[in-house]
Amino acid sequence: MMGIDPPFWYDGLPRLTGSLVHLREVVSADAPLLFELLSDPAVTEHISPPPPSVEKFAGFIRWAHQQRSEGRSVTYGIVPRGLETAVGILQLRALDPTWIAAEWGFAVGAAFWGTGLFAEAARLTATFAFEQMHVDRIEARAAVTNGRGNGALHKMGAAAESCLARSLRRPDGGYEDQLLWSLRAEDWRCRDDPFARGRFDAAAAKRAIRERIQAVQNELARDSATTPADDASFYPFLLTVQPKS
Ligand SMILES: CC(C)(COP(=O)(O)OP(=O)(O)OC[C@H]1O[C@@H](n2cnc3c(N)ncnc32)[C@H](O)[C@@H]1OP(=O)(O)O)[C@@H](O)C(=O)NCCC(=O)NCCS
Repeated sequence: MMGIDPPFWYDGLPRLTGSLVHLREVVSADAPLLFELLSDPAVTEHISPPPPSVEKFAGFIRWAHQQRSEGRSVTYGIVPRGLETAVGILQLRALDPTWIAAEWGFAVGAAFWGTGLFAEAARLTATFAFEQMHVDRIEARAAVTNGRGNGALHKMGAAAESCLARSLRRPDGGYEDQLLWSLRAEDWRCRDDPFARGRFDAAAAKRAIRERIQAVQNELARDSATTPADDASFYPFLLTVQPKS
């Protein structure tokens, strides 16, 4: 019997290149720096708790590869030009088996906030999702108190569609409301691109990112981070239910 071939990206994600960053699938060598940057309380304030050790981060990366090979979700590492390791992640997960609708999750090391790095990474992944994965609608949920998360989605041209009352469980047992944002392929094609309008200063962004890379490299040299083994146990993270520790 003839079957339908799975999409090309089941075998591996294509590299996406911008002027400030390149995106490639997360790799185990990213685990030490991602653990360091994404364990920062400023980053974790509005997202599910990250893997609690470098080894568990490596388990997350193994899980991400398995998810991609099964067509369930994809996880890009955000690598600033001038660095080899990821300083943030962007994840897309299918909301239905055909990938007509997908959910977006993202987190970036606080040193790189406000540099334009995330905006470019988001633009590259949205273009990939709409044009190559044939996603029609990308959704994102952000806690109403998450100013930067909501600000970044608004800036991207996403529309706030509704408020999901008490939809986020906080580690302290309380609940928070979340905004449901959507970005549709059709709107994306007609969007007002801040890069094209010249509001965005690419030279200033590159300077800021260079300074932050230097700071991160100094930290890495101090910690002499090593790449964890490739056999860490699977550890789901970001757009998923957390495993019990
Ligand atoms: C979400 C995240 C990836 C965005 O990256 P970033 O570099 O901070 O995003 P940007 O600076 O490009 O955009 C944020 C926008 O929100 C604006 N903003 C900041 N605080 C705000 C607030 N309280 N209210 C409204 N807007 C706010 C910023 O001014 C900026 O807009 P501008 O560039 O027009 O000034 C990053 O902040 C992050 O990793 N946060 C922690 C994890 C997280 O919350 N993930 C999202 C879960 S939905």
